[in-house]
Amino acid sequence: MRIERDTRRGRPISIRVDGVEIGSFEGETVAAAMLEQDVAFRRDTRGRDRGLFCNMGTCSECMVTLLPSRRRVRACITPASDGMELVTHG
Ligand code: FES
Repeated sequence: MRIERDTRRGRPISIRVDGVEIGSFEGETVAAAMLEQDVAFRRDTRGRDRGLFCNMGTCSECMVTLLPSRRRVRACITPASDGMELVTHG
């Protein structure tokens, strides 16, 4: 059941993933923004898109690289912030 009563989204923000600007909302995770835009988290050895597995910070299937620090983080537990830039590889 979808919970729709007494819920509010944060203000709209945008983040940049692999050079493409995508929309998100304050308080949501990087993974939520990527899922909504159907962005792959990484590719397997055959070049096929991979997605989330646990969505709770334990499997590392959602690792992305923040720019410009090049710090690797788990997208499923990293809050999106306006102007954030990241890449899904490297
Ligand atoms: S999906 Fe498992 S750590 Fe993010």
